[in-house]
Amino acid sequence: MNVPFADLYKQYLTLKPELDAAIASVIETSAFIRGPHVEAFETAFAAEIGTAHCISCANGTDALYMAMVGLGVKPGDEVIVPAMSWISTSETVTQAGATVVFCDIDPASYTLDPGRLSEVITERTVGIIPVHLYGHPADMPAIMQAAARHGLWVIEDCAQAHLAEIDGRKVGTFGAAATFSFYPGKNLGAMGDAGAVLCNDANLARRIAMFARHGGLRKGDHEIEGINSRMDGLQAAILNVKLPHLGAWSARRQDLAAAYQEGLAQVDRITLPRATTGVSAVWHLYVLRSPARTELEAHLKSHGIGTARNYPRALPFLPCYARLQHRPEDFPIAYTLAEEGLSIPIFAEMTNEQLQRVVDVIRGFNPSENG
Ligand SMILES: Cc1ncc(COP(=O)(O)O)c(C=O)c1O
Repeated sequence: MNVPFADLYKQYLTLKPELDAAIASVIETSAFIRGPHVEAFETAFAAEIGTAHCISCANGTDALYMAMVGLGVKPGDEVIVPAMSWISTSETVTQAGATVVFCDIDPASYTLDPGRLSEVITERTVGIIPVHLYGHPADMPAIMQAAARHGLWVIEDCAQAHLAEIDGRKVGTFGAAATFSFYPGKNLGAMGDAGAVLCNDANLARRIAMFARHGGLRKGDHEIEGINSRMDGLQAAILNVKLPHLGAWSARRQDLAAAYQEGLAQVDRITLPRATTGVSAVWHLYVLRSPARTELEAHLKSHGIGTARNYPRALPFLPCYARLQHRPEDFPIAYTLAEEGLSIPIFAEMTNEQLQRVVDVIRGFNPSENG
């Protein structure tokens, strides 16, 4: 039995009549850009996460950029991001005109290590962007405390963590702003690109919305120069159908992670990811570590099981940051994760049989034989 890394078509089939009707209604009403579906989604998503405002936009990368512009980031400012994330988290700092500063991650949660913040905060630091990586919340209480001590803003990058919680409080409600991606493979995915910024401050929300819409909230009335970053009606209509199912999908991911935990606990030379105490992770990705990663990856591939590397290089070691001349020992945890991490299939529609197949194949892995 082959097990794909993800199966977006299967999710479509579970909601086909509703999705087809939603798409048809957008076409029939020509509600392509903004319109009632977008407004309904903004209201519903803000309510789901628990913030006052949701500004939808074209993708999660723009959401980060727009949030930083809204917070007034300017050249000379420094913004701290974790050394392991998707490139959007760091590239948008540069795009907003500021200087990106990397901080290593915590070995248990793989998210920004608040204990290391004091090493990277300078008098030019203006903000921190923790990432709830793989669906595991960053240590927001500690990060917010450090930010308050130094007068810094915090933007939570929630692209991988819709509905994740810390002590019953949803991620996205801790910082000055939170950004989400609805890229098709995300826990809540559109059928194209889509994203959003969430916040509680009405003035910040207004600035961000204005910037996203060519600098004006009324047609022809451009108060500032902005960009064009809007969620389209088709994506919003699709997300409106999917949003009510997100809780059940997250619970299914949690069940699958628990089953992996049980099935793989005794396997030699494999370290499993764990949710830290008090945290409800939503398992966007299930990333295990092994010093024999390359052999394990080949073993899974030869048995028809999809895997991925998230991510093959930690951010400071990407060619685009070669100018910073970082060495592995500057970010040892992120560096090792990139060397050893392997994502195995986890998606809400995954069956128990598929999960058992992945467990059996990994249990049959013998690094010395395979390596
Ligand atoms: C951590 C993280 N931040 C930001 C993004 C950017 O989202 P998008 O692909 O919608 O631009 C992604 C997803 O790709 C992500 O995983």
